[in-house]
Amino acid sequence: MRPVAPPKTFRVKSFGCQMNVYDGERMAELLAEQGIAPAVEGEAADLVVLNTCHIREKAAEKVYSDIGRISKAGAEAGTTPLIAVAGCVAQAEGEEIMARAPAVSMVVGPQAYHRLPGMIEQAVAGRRTTDTDMPADAKFAALPQRRRSAPAAFLTVQEGCDKFCTYCVVPYTRGAEISRPFAALFDEAQRLADAGAREITLLGQNVSAWRGEDARGRPIGLAGLIRAIADLPDIARIRYTTSHPADMDDELIAAHGEIGKLMPYLHLPVQSGSNRILRAMNRSHSTESYLALLDRFRDARPDLALSGDFIVGFPGESEADFADTLRLVDAVGYAAAFSFKYSPRPGTPAATMPDQVAPEIMDERLQRLQGALGRHQLAFNQASVGKSCTVLVERRGKLPGQWLGKSPWLQSVHFTGEAAIGDLVEVELTAAGPNSLAGRLLEPALA
Ligand code: 5AD
Ligand code: SF4
Repeated sequence: MRPVAPPKTFRVKSFGCQMNVYDGERMAELLAEQGIAPAVEGEAADLVVLNTCHIREKAAEKVYSDIGRISKAGAEAGTTPLIAVAGCVAQAEGEEIMARAPAVSMVVGPQAYHRLPGMIEQAVAGRRTTDTDMPADAKFAALPQRRRSAPAAFLTVQEGCDKFCTYCVVPYTRGAEISRPFAALFDEAQRLADAGAREITLLGQNVSAWRGEDARGRPIGLAGLIRAIADLPDIARIRYTTSHPADMDDELIAAHGEIGKLMPYLHLPVQSGSNRILRAMNRSHSTESYLALLDRFRDARPDLALSGDFIVGFPGESEADFADTLRLVDAVGYAAAFSFKYSPRPGTPAATMPDQVAPEIMDERLQRLQGALGRHQLAFNQASVGKSCTVLVERRGKLPGQWLGKSPWLQSVHFTGEAAIGDLVEVELTAAGPNSLAGRLLEPALA
């Protein structure tokens, strides 16, 4: 690679989960601190960071086509943009990326991106670098403090996963479970609140496995952390995601009934409704134990909205197994859900299991599953019509005077009237679609 001028502008493109969105924001803050400015929308950037996702095949393929597009656009404009590949594809396929994509000058894993500034210096000098180290917790301490926040902010509290579901790359790309210390999290939550956050979503690959010690040195779990953040007066709403059914303790269940700021929404992936498949997935729960757990949450918080993740076409999934999944969906009545076709990931046990399911069968099952999930989602939204609720205003809508925000149950709500971004307003829900609700402003901002 030839030396290039130090980058003046950057763009971070994040794919995949909310943790990548969080990491993308932190990288942007880090680059801004180095004096590099965010590129203007629609204009080429001197430095592009692709913050990638490795959870399914297509996500990784997209990275290579993006690299091609960025270098082509650069060549047409007579520039050579610096390209950094970050995130989970970088962690899993760093060497391959370096070999396959000469336009890439930096490969940086999700636990090493605090070292980007040094890597940029190397890239400017014409040297390509890869950093996929996994130092425990060094990253967060090295990142700049939070100074800006949207009304709904993410806060990574836990990373990594020790569950080793047989289809999943996360334990390999994000490493073993680590919990960030309570003091650092409380401080970041306070700074996000000072910067305008009204809602905080606590993030972790297995967030309910978070463990720490409170200010007095007592051991606490996620419920204790939620309780502490709920004491911040400017934070009106708290959410958390994603959880594994095996780590939902009594205290967390009780917290849903006791902490008013903890929103009535639970994302609890189940993946399949067949016990045989759940065993092959190494999920350590059954449909029965999952349903019993949901009952306990609903007892604590009767208006709880439920969401889940599903995989269709896991190796060996028969029509009868899939029918069990549809039955589970009907039994739970999810308010929202994410469903995916099984994608064999290199290095995971399921990738080499016999009886891989044919793509056409997966397509057909996914369609049926999404049909069922869509019907439940619409029914949930329709049942909200006529109710009023508080909406956190997040942005302007497409129409003049229109605003978009979220209900406590994470539904998108649009309404017109006197409001501002970051307001909490009372809205009567008047009409429901599959993905959003229309509302009528009842009274202006509460605070
Ligand atoms: N194939 C398809 N879906 C997957 N997920 C994780 N790994 C795979 C895979 N190999 C889904 C799971 C998980 C969500 C984040 O992605 O449903 O909960
Ligand atoms: Fe992957 Fe399972 Fe861990 Fe979730 S719990 S990140 S699906 S291994």
